[in-house]
Amino acid sequence: VHSTSQQAVEQLAGEIAAGIRKRTRQGGRYVLGLATGSTPIPLYEELVRLHREEGLSFEKVTTFNLDEYYGLSPESEQSYHHFMQKHLFSKVDIAPERIHIPDGMVPRNEVERYCAEYEEAITQAGGIDLQILGIGRTGHIGFNEPPSDDSTRTRLVTLDPVTRQDAASDFGGLDFVPKEAITMGIATILEARTAVLLAWGERKQEIVSRSLASSPSSSIPASFLNLHQDAAYLLDEAAAPEFQ
Ligand code: F6R
Repeated sequence: VHSTSQQAVEQLAGEIAAGIRKRTRQGGRYVLGLATGSTPIPLYEELVRLHREEGLSFEKVTTFNLDEYYGLSPESEQSYHHFMQKHLFSKVDIAPERIHIPDGMVPRNEVERYCAEYEEAITQAGGIDLQILGIGRTGHIGFNEPPSDDSTRTRLVTLDPVTRQDAASDFGGLDFVPKEAITMGIATILEARTAVLLAWGERKQEIVSRSLASSPSSSIPASFLNLHQDAAYLLDEAAAPEFQ
């Protein structure tokens, strides 16, 4: 728990930078799992600052995003493709061929094959070193809405009404929010060597408390992180449970 989200992201960005630099020195590549939404924006700002002011290079970094709305093209302003370009990829020296974001335009009859290929690409890259996560008020990580269990893999899912409501302002109204998404599964996320769930502000406090206090349960998908050997919740004071 940090007093502010800014302090929290500075610490995390520093750890990510150290991981990237170490791996690059060894001649290897660093694989980052990325999230979108409002929560990781200050983290991406800090990574961009480290790139511009402290020479942090993303040349040897491979990325896999958690999810994308189904039916949105990469050019759509609400797409997570657009989000990632705007907040990170256009501002650092990452190689476009190392960027992976689920394609929201895959024809329905090809989704299953496509999702299996996404999983295979993660394996081929050597697995995810560090997965960044946010948490939805439903307890979702990625778009693994309840009930999602720890056998789930990358797939097409239906968004919870609460999640769609939370996205309504970004889309100019609930009617325009997609009903489905492609997301990595809980099993995919749990295979990351390290996972960090970020949450800021009072709005997230209740679900963070419930997730931390819960034994792993498909009714709060984030609670499966409690099973992980190297997972952390990175919180500001407002999001931290009262029992802390
Ligand atoms: C986004 C994602 C979601 C968000 C969650 C919180 O890629 O996977 O799980 O992290 O919905 O969203 P914000 O940060 O906007 O509150």
